Amino acid sequence: MKNKIINLVEKHNIYRDNSINLLPSENILSDKVKIILGSDLASRYSLSMNSEVHGIKVKNAYGGTKYFDSILEYGEKIAKFIFNTKYAEIRPLSGHISAMIALLSTTKKNGKIMAIDPEFGGYDGYSSNYLPDILSLNYAKIPFDQKNWNIDYEKFEESVKKFRPNTVILGASYILFPYNLKLINEISEKFSFTLIYDASHVMGLVAGKNFQSDIFDRTDLVFGSTHKSFFGPQGGILLTNNDEIFSNIEKNIVWRTMDNYHLNRVAALAQAMEEMKRHAENYSKKVIENSETLARVLDEMNFGIKSFNGKYTNSHQIFIKNPEVCKKLERSRLIIDCVGRMGTNEISRLGFGKKDINKLADLIIQSLKKNVSEEVISFRKRFKIHYL
Ligand SMILES: Cc1ncc(COP(=O)(O)O)c(C=O)c1O
Repeated sequence: MKNKIINLVEKHNIYRDNSINLLPSENILSDKVKIILGSDLASRYSLSMNSEVHGIKVKNAYGGTKYFDSILEYGEKIAKFIFNTKYAEIRPLSGHISAMIALLSTTKKNGKIMAIDPEFGGYDGYSSNYLPDILSLNYAKIPFDQKNWNIDYEKFEESVKKFRPNTVILGASYILFPYNLKLINEISEKFSFTLIYDASHVMGLVAGKNFQSDIFDRTDLVFGSTHKSFFGPQGGILLTNNDEIFSNIEKNIVWRTMDNYHLNRVAALAQAMEEMKRHAENYSKKVIENSETLARVLDEMNFGIKSFNGKYTNSHQIFIKNPEVCKKLERSRLIIDCVGRMGTNEISRLGFGKKDINKLADLIIQSLKKNVSEEVISFRKRFKIHYL
């Protein structure tokens, strides 16, 4: 007889394999990545030290790591290749931990940070009660222009002049359009703050150079999750060309933000990056095309899609006017978040094109009136992971 947990996990797998996922925060893993996640590495340790610990000079605190050391080195190499950066740190356990490392590496206690207001889709973790509280930082909101769903650049410069931040964090959880990095970079030079970018949501689009293509020229550090528009296992990454920031990052890993770093996850990320290396440009282009098409088609069908000065999106996300519909859609195995977003990252990885988006929009509209799960299941069966 099957054990209870295996049974539930199998049910979950079948359920998700027979649903269409439009969550902008998730993606789908290749079979190779899944095999690596379930490998022996999942219960092993490695702590590369290359230093003296308790009087003993050690390269790695643990034995048995000769293959993992090569995996880590190879993973860092691919990350640097994909993003074309001097440095890559691929061990952080999550986007949140990479955010913590980014702040620890670019601020001092009682320092000042500015980030996008959560009211306008900024990541809640940067607001006063969370990371600033535990890291003893002062926080101010970046002024936001709701009509264009972008930073209010004029007011931003005024706020910077008054608040004098040490670090400004760009990027958000609700992100549709790139920022004017040239302008922000000029302000950062004028008022000398460190400019960092939380690309948790747009990492896969950045990898393909189809979103914010000047990001590494105009910011000091880019970091975030590896599993939203970037189709890796859940985890975090930090990328920079700055020697001093990278040296700080390395000091903030072991025993400050983590001890073990889940070797299976790091190896799985290396495999996902191999896949991303081959397909980043085409995949990310498709994601953006699909989100623009889905938004336009749904809006034409009166579903209620938000637009900003006539534009829906340049990212993997689209914003919906009535988040309550999530329950009706889920009844038909169309999964979206219940806080107002849809994303085309996972369906693009499954190879959805224009015609498929039209069919999907049709199913979404029908799902408001009746349960169309049978139609959704048979439609979903046509697709397998495309970018391998
Ligand atoms: C902008 C942003 N930063 C950080 C995070 C945290 O990422 P993770 O869930 O990988 O810890 C999120 C989560 O959704 C996010 O949207």
